[in-house]
Amino acid sequence: MTVWVGTSWKMNKTLAEATDWARGLAEALAGRDLGDVQPFVIPPATAIAAVAQALAEEPRVLVGAQNAHWAEAGAWTGEVSVPQVADAGARIVEIGHSERREHFGETDETVRAKVAATLAHGLVPLLCVGEPAEVQAAGGSGAHVLGQVERALAGLEAEQLSRVLIAYEPIWAIGEHGRPATVAELAEPFAALGAHWGSRVAGLLYGGSVNLDNAADLLGIDHVDGLFVGRTAWRLEGYLRLLEIARSAEAARARTINDENDDKEKVK
Ligand code: 13P
Repeated sequence: MTVWVGTSWKMNKTLAEATDWARGLAEALAGRDLGDVQPFVIPPATAIAAVAQALAEEPRVLVGAQNAHWAEAGAWTGEVSVPQVADAGARIVEIGHSERREHFGETDETVRAKVAATLAHGLVPLLCVGEPAEVQAAGGSGAHVLGQVERALAGLEAEQLSRVLIAYEPIWAIGEHGRPATVAELAEPFAALGAHWGSRVAGLLYGGSVNLDNAADLLGIDHVDGLFVGRTAWRLEGYLRLLEIARSAEAARARTINDENDDKEKVK
């Protein structure tokens, strides 16, 4: 089963810094067995092409964009389209991050339009959802994120849904003012997402204050297929450690499944 480990750099890194990170990653991964771990990196728009170029020899790492407009082209000053980010080398488009919903007027409707445009051009939408602290305090996390996902993915066919990634990122857990979520707090929203969407989409990821101490536990939560990481992965050493943690988690999971199958054989 694929374990996704991705990072968004948000509004960070010059071209030189971005290229160094990507070249360093390609060197570190050369000849390394990643198992079912799927790495991805989402630079700012200015660095997509440079990062894709630096990773040309390591195509196992997918490159993404942090945003793309729903229109193909036209009079949309300041925006970039899905075909443009694809042209630069992006294969994933991040859509609806809470920072974009809060500061840039992203709505359920624009999120839905961007998901549709991304799918239409054959890229993978990484749909971000998450609830504010007051909703979590009132016990409404699962219902809140299910509503966001339902509105973003309404009307899509099964084949289209099977290409969508969902990142659950509680707003209260994101960034330097965020509080890391506990495993117990994440069980309910992931149970809800898993029950409704787990078997229909490409993966359910967790994001928000992921660090080297909590990553293994977060990957152990039911229905969590990967991690979407900010600060911890901005230094390459941090990202490489996360890939190792995910590789161990994935190997342990595969062993458990094998043992269970062996037990079933014995019973027969
Ligand atoms: P942090 O890992 O820095 O909390 O950021 C998470 C995030 O917003 C990823 O999109």
